[in-house]
Amino acid sequence: MPAHRSVAGRRTRGGSLGSLRAGRQRQAQAEAVPEGKVRVRLAGRRIIVLSNPEGLGASSSSPHARAAPIGEEETWTRPSRIRRSRGTPAEPALLPHSSFCHQAPSEFSPPADSVSPIALVTGGNKGVGLETCRQLATKGLKVVLTARNEARGLEAVEAIRRSSGAAEVFFHQLDVTDPSSAARLADFVRGQFGRLDILINNAGISGVDRDPVLVAKVKDQVESMDVNQRVEWMRENSKETYEEAKQCMRTNYYGAKIVTEALLPLLQLSSSGRIVNVSSGFGLLRNFNSEELRKEFDDIDNLTEKRLEELLDLFLEDFKANLLEAHGWPTGGSSAYKVAKAALNAYTRILAKKYPTLRINCLTPGYVKTDMSMHMGVLTLEEGARNPVKVALLPDDGPTGAYFDLNGEASF
Ligand SMILES: NC(=O)c1ccc[n+]([C@@H]2O[C@H](COP(=O)([O-])OP(=O)(O)OC[C@H]3O[C@@H](n4cnc5c(N)ncnc54)[C@H](OP(=O)(O)O)[C@@H]3O)[C@@H](O)[C@H]2O)c1
Repeated sequence: MPAHRSVAGRRTRGGSLGSLRAGRQRQAQAEAVPEGKVRVRLAGRRIIVLSNPEGLGASSSSPHARAAPIGEEETWTRPSRIRRSRGTPAEPALLPHSSFCHQAPSEFSPPADSVSPIALVTGGNKGVGLETCRQLATKGLKVVLTARNEARGLEAVEAIRRSSGAAEVFFHQLDVTDPSSAARLADFVRGQFGRLDILINNAGISGVDRDPVLVAKVKDQVESMDVNQRVEWMRENSKETYEEAKQCMRTNYYGAKIVTEALLPLLQLSSSGRIVNVSSGFGLLRNFNSEELRKEFDDIDNLTEKRLEELLDLFLEDFKANLLEAHGWPTGGSSAYKVAKAALNAYTRILAKKYPTLRINCLTPGYVKTDMSMHMGVLTLEEGARNPVKVALLPDDGPTGAYFDLNGEASF
C-alpha cells in the first residue's frame, strides 16, 4: 500500500482522510397463552403465539418478570489462552472434544421454577436462524422469530411447532435494514415481555450474484467434492457487483446495528442481557492483505463506530474504483462479505466495552448447508445452530467481546 494510503491514523473525513481521498484520485481514481395456537393483532401486525403444550415456561405471565440468569446451571472454563482461529468456512470440522468446556446445548434446561428467558432471532425464517429458534424453543426459552417476509416467517413458526411441539414461539416482522421496522419490533417486545434477554443478529446475505441455473445443477455434484473444491466452485461462480457490495454492508453490518440500537434499552432491562452476532470465519482479520487495515479493525482501544463506518465507506469507494487489491482489502471472492463481517466483529467488541453488564459476542456457525452456501456446506442445520445457541446461553460470568469458532473462543 502506498504511503499516502495509510489508514492507521485517527483521521476524520475532513482531515487526513480527505488527503487520502485526494491521494487516491491522483493514483487512479398477546400475552402468554397457555394452550393452543392463537393469532392476535398487535400494532397492526399479525402475531402468532404457539403455546407450549408441556407447560414449559407457563409460569411467566408477567410481562415484566425478570429471567433467571441464563445458563446458570452451566459451567464455563475459559481456555487458558485464546487459540489462533482456523476459522475459515472451509475448515469447519466439529471436533468431538473441544477446549470449549461449556455444557452442550442439548443439556441446557432452564430451572423448573424460573421465568423463561426471552430470545429474539433475526432472519429466523430459514437456515441457521430458523434452526437456532427451534433449538432455543425446544430448551424452553420464549423465542421471537423475526423475518422480513411475514408469510415466510409464519410458515417457519408453524414448522417449529410441527417439528418440536414443545415450543413457545412468537412471530414479528423485521427487515433489519429498516429502522421503522426495528422500532415496531421493539414496541412489540416491550408490550409483550417488558424486556429482552437475548438478541441474536443472524440475518445476513452473501453479497454476491449467483446464476440460479448453475446453483441448481451443482447440487447433484456437491457430494463428490471436497471442502476446498466446494469453496472454489462457489468463488468461481459468484459475481461481486457494487450494488451487491453496498447491500451486503447495509444488511450484515448496518442491519445488525439498527436492530441492536432499537433493542438495547430492552436488553438493559434484563438481569442477564446478551447479544450474539452471527459472523463468519470470512470476517477474520487474516483475510485482509494490508497490515494497516488489520490494525485499524483490531485497535479496539481506539476504534469507534464512526471510524469503522468511514472504513466501510472507503472499502466501497475502492470497490467502485477497482482498487481492492491495490489497497489491501480482502480479495479472493466475497470481499464485501468479508469486510462486513470483520466490521460486525469490531462492532461487537466496541459494544462489549461500552456495555460491560451485557454479554456481547460474535461467532461463526461453521460451513453450513443453507441457501447462502448453496447447500455446499459440510454441517447440517442442526450442527450449524449449535454455536449460536451455545454462545447465547453462556453463563453470566462468561466472556464478552469475544469471537467463537466451533472449538470455542478464538482470536479475531
Ligand atoms: N451458511 C454458512 O455456511 C455460513 C457460514 C458463516 C456464517 N454464516 C452466517 O449465518 C447467518 C445465517 O446464514 P444462513 O446460512 O442461514 O443463510 P440463509 O439460509 O440464506 O438465511 C439468511 C436469513 O437472513 C434473512 N435476511 C436477509 N436479509 C434480511 C433483511 N434485510 N431483513 C431480515 N432478514 C434478512 C433471510 O431472509 P429471506 O428468506 O427473506 O431472504 C434469511 O432468513 C448469516 O449471518 C451468515 O452470514 C453462514
